[in-house]
Amino acid sequence: MSNKRPESMERITNEALANAFIAEQVAAVKAQVGDKKVLLALSGGVDSSVVAALLIKAIGKNLVCVHVNHGLLRKGEPEQVVEVFRNQMNANLVYVDAVDRFLDKLAGIVEPERKRKIIGAEFIRVFEEEARKQQGIEFLAQGTIYPDILESGPVKAHHNVGGLPDDLKFELVEPLKFLFKDEVRVVGKALGLPDGMVYRQPFPGPGLGVRCLGAITRDRLEAVRESDAILREEFAKNGLEGKVWQYFTIVPDFKSVGVKEGKRSFEWPVIIRAVNTRDAMTATVEDVPFALLEHITERITHEVKGVNRVLYDLTPKPTGTIEWE
Ligand code: XMP
Repeated sequence: MSNKRPESMERITNEALANAFIAEQVAAVKAQVGDKKVLLALSGGVDSSVVAALLIKAIGKNLVCVHVNHGLLRKGEPEQVVEVFRNQMNANLVYVDAVDRFLDKLAGIVEPERKRKIIGAEFIRVFEEEARKQQGIEFLAQGTIYPDILESGPVKAHHNVGGLPDDLKFELVEPLKFLFKDEVRVVGKALGLPDGMVYRQPFPGPGLGVRCLGAITRDRLEAVRESDAILREEFAKNGLEGKVWQYFTIVPDFKSVGVKEGKRSFEWPVIIRAVNTRDAMTATVEDVPFALLEHITERITHEVKGVNRVLYDLTPKPTGTIEWE
C-alpha cells in the first residue's frame, strides 16, 4: 500500500468528518484482520490511545493492548490507561509492571544515549515476552502518523516495537498513517477519549528518564515525577495547558546548600522548562507570569522531598535543546 496521503483526502477538522473517517477505518480494519487478533503497545500517548479506541470499536476484544509501565511515566498515567481502556472501554488490556526491571537495568548508567538504548531495548524485550504469551496474534497495530512517514522523526515509544525478532514480524495495522497530529486529536475526541489524553503535550519515549539527569535513582526520579505533577496542575489551573507546547521539570544529579526550618539543607534543585515551537527544531521560552513561577516554586520546595531550589530555564533552542539530555 502506498505511503502517500491521497490527494482527495479532506482535512479532518470537525466531528462529522472524524465520524466519517472512523466509519471508513472500522470497515477497513475489519476487512484487513477479520476475526484474527491484533497486538498493540499502548503507551497512553495520543497516537497509540487513538489507535486503541478505533480498534476497540472495530474488533473489540480481539485487540490485545499491552501497556508497559517502565517506571518513567508521568504521575497518574498508568492508572489513567487502566481506567480509560480497561474500565471504561472494556478493552482486552495487559498491564505489565516492569518498573523494577527497568530501574535495575538503568542503575548507575550516566550516559544519556546508553540510558535511551537500555530503555528502548528493554521495552522491546518486555513487549516480546508479552507477545509470546498471547495465542494467535497475526497483526501488530501501530500509532504511526503522517509526519512519522514524512520525516521519520525522533524515535517514539511505539516505534521501538520495530525491533521485534523475525518470528514475531506481524502484518501491520496503521489506521492513522495519513493523519496529521491535529486530525488525530479530532478523531480521538470523536471516539470519546478524555481531553487529558487527546490534548496531551509531547512526551519522549524514554520518558522521565531523560529528565532525571545522570544515573537514575528512585528518589530523584520521584522528585522529577512529583515536581512535574505540580507544574502540570498549576499550568492547568492557570489556563496554560494546551497553550504552551511543552512544559516539564528536570532534576540534575547535584545538590546545593539551602536552609529549611532553620537548618542547613543539602538538596537537589528542580529546573522548570516551558517552551513553544512549531516543529521542535527551534523553540522559544514561554513568558510565564512571575507570580505563578513564585507560587510553583513555593509548592515544589515544600511538597517535593529532597528539593530546596527551583530554577526557570530561559534558554531558547538554539542554543539549548528542549530536553536536557
Ligand atoms: P530536543 O531535546 O531534541 O527535543 O530539542 C525535541 C523534541 O523531541 C522530544 N525528544 C524525544 N522524543 N525520544 C522521543 O520520543 C527521545 O529520546 C527524545 N528526545 C527528545 C522532546 O521531548 C521534544 O519534544
